[in-house]
Amino acid sequence: MLPPRPNELEDIEVQLLLEGIYRYYGFDFRNYAMASLKRRIWNVIRAENLTTVSSLQDRILHDKSCLERFLLNLTVNVTSMFRDPSFYVAFRTKAIPLLRTYPFIRIWHAGCSTGEEVYSMAIMLLEEGLYHRCRIYATDMNEEVVKKAKLGIYPLRLMQEYTQLYQLAGGQKAFSEYYTANLDGAMFSPSLKKNIVFSAHNLVTDSSFNEFNVIFCRNVLIYFDKQLQDKVHKLLYTSLRRFGILGLGKHESLISTPYQSNYEALDASEKLFRRVTP
Ligand SMILES: C[S@@+](CC[C@H](N)C(=O)[O-])C[C@H]1O[C@@H](n2cnc3c(N)ncnc32)[C@H](O)[C@@H]1O
Repeated sequence: MLPPRPNELEDIEVQLLLEGIYRYYGFDFRNYAMASLKRRIWNVIRAENLTTVSSLQDRILHDKSCLERFLLNLTVNVTSMFRDPSFYVAFRTKAIPLLRTYPFIRIWHAGCSTGEEVYSMAIMLLEEGLYHRCRIYATDMNEEVVKKAKLGIYPLRLMQEYTQLYQLAGGQKAFSEYYTANLDGAMFSPSLKKNIVFSAHNLVTDSSFNEFNVIFCRNVLIYFDKQLQDKVHKLLYTSLRRFGILGLGKHESLISTPYQSNYEALDASEKLFRRVTP
């Protein structure tokens, strides 16, 4: 008999855990990139005062509140307003002129986390005089972060950094015009929320729900393996209208996906593309 490979047991336990979560709760992490997934699983194991992946499986399957803690810790929800400001500059200069020609613009933020990206888009559209023509759908698989996105309240201590990012992104006003500071934090103006619909949507298990002129799916695909990235690219492609615009994250790409030839780059280095095929 061959000796077991190092980590063989851990790999089996992780597969069983993910299979169990999928079959019992419907959340499918089976094709997430393994290295970061394992790190996060072990963080949860330690936080739960457990010692093995199998013991975590037992707890998650018999205690839904443990699943909720697991979901909160498993996905990386790090985000910011005007993240990668040069991306927003490219969007303003290369995508906005195209959008001006549309009477109505439907936008999807897939994997919006706590909403900072969505409010950044709303501010940009308002400044460009396009907001009233837009309907923005902001979705994430994690219901807790969607609730926070809907609230639109962020820590005051971040506002100085966000002001700088806003200015680097081509912001035209005093950033403080967009929020009210109170005891809870910086509350973003209800006028920014008017045309935004927040809801839960899972890119792995849910299907397309509309056709969009713009999709942002930034810093989400990096957590998936190649097979899952291709599957989600299919969903994004079929959810975009012809000439619709796709924005990916800095470390994400269309290269080597089956959909590469269906897009042209509006700005390749900023990961801004346009669907060209009918
Ligand atoms: C790092 S955040 C990116 C947030 C924002 N797009 C940005 O670039 O700043 C990744 C988000 O993807 C979400 N996510 C992970 N897997 C997902 C899935 N299968 N369906 C929808 N959202 C998912 C996570 O919950 C998390 O909020």
